[in-house]
Amino acid sequence: MTPEKSVMAYVNHLIVSNFSYFWDEIDGYLYYLGGTLGTLTLGSLAASVAYYFATRPVPERPLVPLENQSPLLEGPEQIHVSKFYKESKNGKFVSYITENVRTLYQTFREGAYASNNGPCLGWRETLTSPYQWINYDEALLRAKNFGAGMLALGARPKQLIGIYSQNRPEWILYEQGCYSFSLVVVPLYDTLGPDACAFIIRQTDMQVVIVEDDGKAAMLLEKAPRSLKIIVAIKPIRQTTLERARSRGIQIFSFIDVEKLGAKGNHPEVPPTAEDLCTVCYTSGTTGNPKGVMLTHGNVVAGVCSVILQMGDHRIRAGDVMVSFLPLAHMFERCCENGMYYVGGCVGFYSGDIKELTNDLKMLKPTVMPAVPRLLNRVYDKIQNDISASGLKRGLFNMAMRAKEKEIARGVLRRNGCWDKLVFKKVHQAFGGNLRLMVVGSAPLAGNVLTFMRCALGCLVLEGYGQTECTGAITLTVQGDHVPNHVGPPVSCNAVKLVDVPEMEYFANQNTGEVCVRGSNVFHGYYKDPEKTAEAIDSEGWHHTGDVGMWLPNGTLRIIDRRKHIFKLSQGEYIVPEKIENIYTLSQYVNQVYVYGESLKSCIIAVVVPDTDVLKQWATENNVRGTLSVLCNNKNVKELIMNDMLNWGKQSGLKSFEQVKDIYLHPDPFSVQNGLLTPTFKAKRPQLKSYFKPQLEDMYKHLD
Ligand SMILES: *[C@@H]1O[C@H](CO)[C@@H](O)[C@H](O)[C@H]1NC(C)=O
Repeated sequence: MTPEKSVMAYVNHLIVSNFSYFWDEIDGYLYYLGGTLGTLTLGSLAASVAYYFATRPVPERPLVPLENQSPLLEGPEQIHVSKFYKESKNGKFVSYITENVRTLYQTFREGAYASNNGPCLGWRETLTSPYQWINYDEALLRAKNFGAGMLALGARPKQLIGIYSQNRPEWILYEQGCYSFSLVVVPLYDTLGPDACAFIIRQTDMQVVIVEDDGKAAMLLEKAPRSLKIIVAIKPIRQTTLERARSRGIQIFSFIDVEKLGAKGNHPEVPPTAEDLCTVCYTSGTTGNPKGVMLTHGNVVAGVCSVILQMGDHRIRAGDVMVSFLPLAHMFERCCENGMYYVGGCVGFYSGDIKELTNDLKMLKPTVMPAVPRLLNRVYDKIQNDISASGLKRGLFNMAMRAKEKEIARGVLRRNGCWDKLVFKKVHQAFGGNLRLMVVGSAPLAGNVLTFMRCALGCLVLEGYGQTECTGAITLTVQGDHVPNHVGPPVSCNAVKLVDVPEMEYFANQNTGEVCVRGSNVFHGYYKDPEKTAEAIDSEGWHHTGDVGMWLPNGTLRIIDRRKHIFKLSQGEYIVPEKIENIYTLSQYVNQVYVYGESLKSCIIAVVVPDTDVLKQWATENNVRGTLSVLCNNKNVKELIMNDMLNWGKQSGLKSFEQVKDIYLHPDPFSVQNGLLTPTFKAKRPQLKSYFKPQLEDMYKHLD
């Protein structure tokens, strides 16, 4: 997993763990279908058929030939480029749409103009109140005041300013406030953890952080590095927190007071250039400290523009309403919102509780929605569950799906056909009823779920693939391509090629390999980390993503694997520890396993956390007494578990050098709390290595 992906996977996880409540709404679906069936008489069927012919829709024409979606540049490298930009063939990339709109400062003002000072930012006070809006001009004025206020408090252009808040209008006022004075946006977020947040503040020498509420202010104060001087709080702060801040020499201001301060000063704006840094977006990886991805205004504008171009006839425009609920700390949401502010659309923020998202959607009625796979999987599962109860409903549902799939294959996008009204209306309503465009990103989406969403929503559903390091999208599916299981052709701000990964047997001449990206969206390096930058971007400017892709014959990309942690043993054989771990965890005795090897050794070893229940049961059955720790030290237990692992390895085709030669049993699971797993439950290999150093050394000593 890429750092970005793992973060987003966690976001996904967060969102969906609360989703069971959310889609209870769709429970009503069952009854709805039942009711429809009851009234489905011949007469109404005839009426539906007549209605169908009266409203027979016209198919859309794809904007690129679907059998050849990305042309190849000449040369041995097999570089794929976009068909949405004429100059792509000459090795050029889209950087902007209009010459004089090249920064996020300018795009926002363009939106103010395009919307004729229309509504911009919307929110609800409570779950029963309607959305209220501020217009573009008011947003711009408040943003400018806030930015000027930060300058009055001592910030200087080009400085890095942090924000630690859920999505809300103030986030955007802060963001645009920063751009008005060439300040740099740095999001902090919960899943980084307090230590990583402190690391970021220290690394960037950050003096000002905007926080949402008392809890987040208190958390910052706990580990606040010395550079931190000012906290700006959006919500009220408790007295005890204020005192704690004072004792540490940190000032706390309210968001409104900073706006007022700025309004008084009337500092002239300091707009950024396209080459100026726009944001440093930290991604937490599986190893070490988070990495700060440096993106310029030019990067983000290039990313946003190329996606807008690729949306074709369905591109976002003034009058569109987008729902904001995916974290603004990630570039996916940042790009979506900045696209809306560019075209003069408006963004309504969710109430802050994901469980209430349907409530927000019903009130907001968005036309545009960014989404993540976990959310869509949840909707899909819910519906599958509902229809499984009755053969009749299942039959009707399957008929509807078949009919819609055919329709979509013909290029017809609509949600007013008879099947839409008969079967999918509840799904439309759950999303507010007005959706016309959905963009899915951040993690792989199962083909059947994508097809289901396309049928059920009857609107354009695009799937993209991207990375923080490439601002947002690298590839994006195109209108008219209804086939799932790929992520589309490259967007017009970048070119994509695949390079060999010999140790995993992926070769570019067989159209598989590591995805490499070059273009105007590629980042300018990791903040204060030239070493990692050099690992990621090669001398010709190609960013090596770490993802393994495959070109389909029609020029679309499919992501098929992740370049894994790999090492060589002394006899020259490659070891992919994750692959071996996945096999060993098939054993009923194995809860967790960490496979380790060194290039100076000829064999591999492992740390195994046994499955408590299975082991205890075995102990009872075999009259072995003792706590888990005692069992872990029992020679027979170790033999039992290792033999079972080796059996699984053999059955799964591991070669003999891929089998462990010794194991150490450890009673306590690897966890996020003890620092051995990432928030997405991936093994932190360097941490595991140092944690188990004595045991690993001991095992090797006995093997030599
Ligand atoms: C693109 O190619 C794949 C693989 O050959 C195929 O399954 C798919 O149908 C093609 N897509 C379109 C839209 O023709």
